[in-house]
Amino acid sequence: MRNAVKLKSLIATSCAVLIAGTLISACSATQKPANKAQASVPTNAQIEAILSNLTLEEKAGQLNLINFEGELGEEHYEMIRQGKVGSLLKSNGAAQNLKLQKIAVEQSRAGVPILFQEDVIHGYKTIAPIPLAEAASWDLPAIQHSAAVAAREASAAGIQLTYAPMVDMSRDPRWGRIIEAAGEDPYLASLVAAARVKGFQESGEGNQNILATVKHFAGYGAALAGRDYNIQDLSERELREVHLPPFKAAVDADVAAVMIAYTAHDGVPLTANEYMVQDVLQGELGFNGLIMTDWATIYNLERAGVSANEEDATITAINNNIHMDMAAKKYVELLPKLVREGKVDEQLVDDAVRQVLMLKYKAGLLDDPYGRFDVELEKKELLSAENVEATKQMALKSMVLLKNSDNTLPIADSVKKVAVIGPFAKAQKDLMGWWPGLGDENDVVSIMAGLEQEFGDSIEFTYAQGVEIDRFNKAGADLIPEAVKNAEAADLVIMVLGEQEWMSGEGGGTASLHLPGLQEQLLAAVAETGKPIATVIVSGRPYVLTDVANHSDAVLQAWMPGTTGGNAVAEILSGKFNPQGKLPVTFPYHQGQVPIFYSYKKTSHPFMEGVTEDRYSTTYRDVQHEPLYPFGFGLSYTEYSYSDIKLNSASMALDGSIVASVDVTNTGDVAGREVVQLYIHDKVASVTQPVKLLKDFTLLELAPGETKTAEFTITADKLSFIGIDYQPTIESGDFDVFIGPDSVQLKQAEFTLN
Ligand code: BGC
Repeated sequence: MRNAVKLKSLIATSCAVLIAGTLISACSATQKPANKAQASVPTNAQIEAILSNLTLEEKAGQLNLINFEGELGEEHYEMIRQGKVGSLLKSNGAAQNLKLQKIAVEQSRAGVPILFQEDVIHGYKTIAPIPLAEAASWDLPAIQHSAAVAAREASAAGIQLTYAPMVDMSRDPRWGRIIEAAGEDPYLASLVAAARVKGFQESGEGNQNILATVKHFAGYGAALAGRDYNIQDLSERELREVHLPPFKAAVDADVAAVMIAYTAHDGVPLTANEYMVQDVLQGELGFNGLIMTDWATIYNLERAGVSANEEDATITAINNNIHMDMAAKKYVELLPKLVREGKVDEQLVDDAVRQVLMLKYKAGLLDDPYGRFDVELEKKELLSAENVEATKQMALKSMVLLKNSDNTLPIADSVKKVAVIGPFAKAQKDLMGWWPGLGDENDVVSIMAGLEQEFGDSIEFTYAQGVEIDRFNKAGADLIPEAVKNAEAADLVIMVLGEQEWMSGEGGGTASLHLPGLQEQLLAAVAETGKPIATVIVSGRPYVLTDVANHSDAVLQAWMPGTTGGNAVAEILSGKFNPQGKLPVTFPYHQGQVPIFYSYKKTSHPFMEGVTEDRYSTTYRDVQHEPLYPFGFGLSYTEYSYSDIKLNSASMALDGSIVASVDVTNTGDVAGREVVQLYIHDKVASVTQPVKLLKDFTLLELAPGETKTAEFTITADKLSFIGIDYQPTIESGDFDVFIGPDSVQLKQAEFTLN
């Protein structure tokens, strides 16, 4: 298997080199190995009937996915009439899309409806917390429901397909798109991926589902040094252990489409990468749906220097089973000519059209092209009270309490005067993050407004911006004295610090993981007052909060919490809602630790705690290697105690199971929900193993004083790893099982797999 893998990679790479060099004609894309995965293109009689009626130009038009620049006008309508627009992105609203649909159906020769697509990443009009935040809830039904709410709104506004879920694994918070996925752990990320696919595609409301697109296949999150679009240099092992699992989960959940990444895997851009697309995605993962490019990635083959010209790029992409061309317009412009010249097999074009038509069929457009554009439904659905409440619940569940010394939170009744300080206290747009859908910042409840609504007259609030956020510059030092003055006059300070929406998300790479601008200095100055400080962090990524935590009594990671973010923060600060989120990603202690994640592999030399004198350990000489807050960590207003682990047997057979359980008691005064986590470590294996790997978790609701048992059934699939031959492998021997409230504070037991 391994040899076969290597051989295929070699063919693709050597061909690309020749294209870039002088022997262009000796290695044109048509002479590449024949497309391998043509077997199972989904189709039906309706699709075949439409296809057989299309001219070559119209077929190429079906593969064309574009956005219309500027105001809609006659030139756009004419493109539709000519059958050049198979799908549209960034065209929104039931009325507008119905109008365009009518032109396509009634005025184009073949009358094929348009598929309307959009980036519905975490909400459409009612904006939910960013996906990284949602993952912090570990609440799969809630995550699924959140996607369903987004689907219903988008569908009502004339959209039938979203470019989500994004499932790129990232262990580098410098990469701005860490905001968009589910964090660092492949197991949690896979469950979240499946939940989001189901939420979009099965929103449970008749034709209010939308089709999901899992993206970006694959390895984009490994962009080197946190710079977006940078090369990725992944081993076959890391690809399979870390990056592929959430894609597999989405495919298994029947995701309709896959979007290809911008990046190059093993030197070959994904759009051209036959090994990744044909062997791995279509072959191994068994995906037989539509594959689309990311923005202009066909054209990018030329930019990246692996195709000599746009014709070669187009041939390469269609030969690699890339069915839909987003924004490059190369398929629509070049495919008919390339087919006529014999450089592209028309069969490939037909198969791609079948894929597009299958999506239109699944969306119900072939049977009823106008049925999904209902202006009345749109009015009812967008920002409905139910949707707003659902996103607030999601925001509440996603926030993570990182520190709470001396029960600073929830705010005590004795607190009468609160100084709210910080450049994000009144922020609205920033609470929606980089992918705000069609969200309107004026609909967003700021944290200041949320606090005022929650506490009414019982607390007197003052406000000071504290510093300016002027890109990454250190601006606004002159505002600090007023903030300090307010703090001096208050019983409690609420600092609201973070980053602006454009600082993370696509193209949102950052070299420094310290809060932008003078925010840390502001906090230090306020801390000088000696007043208790609760700091709320608004961010799309883990920042290094070491100094923030040192200067704060309480820290709440609020992420970018969406439309009702201010209400959710206020309800947590008041104690109406007991925080229950747990970090889906490690928060570094120092930015030099990046990439940092909990499931590091065992090495020959030990990991020592803290800063050690032992030179021969795999640790730093200047700072601890431990993070500030580990994966899985999150506090509550109550406390939980864990019993030792009970195993129902000391050993298990390969086809058997073993049950590990702990009793968890709520030892505090308020009800809470605890995420009980199970990790496993394979003590001796033929491939180095992570020191622990999340394998299961359960959510326990516990009243004060209540004890419940968390029970986990371990079967052989939880003990498998990617073997030397890159296949799932299970080896008998001893295993550690760990259970606890996060990836560090763990009870431990051992068992043997016979
Ligand atoms: C992004 C995709 C997005 C697409 C369409 C690209 O630049 O990488 O994630 O879906 O634009 O907006």
